[in-house]
Amino acid sequence: MTTATIDLVAENISKRYGGANGVEVLTRVSLSLDAGASAAIMGPSGCGKSTLLNILGGLESPDSGSVRLGADEPFKLDERGLARFRNRRVGFVFQEHHLLPQCSVLENVLVPTLVGESDDGSVQSRGTALLERVGLKDRMSHRPGELSGGERQRVAIARALINEPALLLADEPTGNLDEATAHRVADLLREIQSDTKTILVVVTHSAEIAGRFERRLSLAGGVLQAGA
Ligand SMILES: Nc1ncnc2c1ncn2[C@@H]1O[C@H](COP(=O)(O)OP(=O)(O)OP(=O)(O)O)[C@@H](O)[C@H]1O
Ligand SMILES: [Mg+2]
Repeated sequence: MTTATIDLVAENISKRYGGANGVEVLTRVSLSLDAGASAAIMGPSGCGKSTLLNILGGLESPDSGSVRLGADEPFKLDERGLARFRNRRVGFVFQEHHLLPQCSVLENVLVPTLVGESDDGSVQSRGTALLERVGLKDRMSHRPGELSGGERQRVAIARALINEPALLLADEPTGNLDEATAHRVADLLREIQSDTKTILVVVTHSAEIAGRFERRLSLAGGVLQAGA
């Protein structure tokens, strides 16, 4: 199955923290995205955006509901299968870049390829091509500490894409950047998503950035709705 035929369907996702007396963060949230679609999720702080994104990517499990990415149903897998799903099928970009300071830019991009069975040796050239794609061809041997915030996020984007994920999740990827840099990074995400036909879900507090993606969704009171 190629990436182009893979859709994302989340149905009736509920999640509560803190037991029976706790707070229900997500209440029967459903979301369906076609292959190659992009969506932005907005909503007030604490409404559950990161929780939802983490569930879509198999980082957290829902109390009830299902997630399907193409033929994969992550929450029907055992721990090992779920770890493989996260590593092979999903790319994550967070607000903090989480790059390893002692490793070069290229080594950082290759980190996700070190997990599980290794590949055919083409990872090096794929990493180089991705860094070229994000405009960092000349910075491959630099350390993250030598880069600007926007450049570090570009490295994080390249790292998220190294295993050619069917689903790219970005949780406030531009939250730490100044406005101009944020817009450039958002444009880059959108362009790469459009080239690779991966499904992209971006959480952002910026309506302007949300406007760059095909669908805009808002989460509030545990409920996901169209529009922002
Ligand atoms: N592991 C956890 N244990 C208990 N409560 C949690 C946990 N993770 C999140 N929460 C709570 O769930 C709610 C939703 O958190 P979440 O991080 O998903 O919000 P968010 O919409 O991403 O917020 P922000 O915009 O500030 O990043 C918050 O009230 C938070 O305190
Ligand atoms: Mg969050």
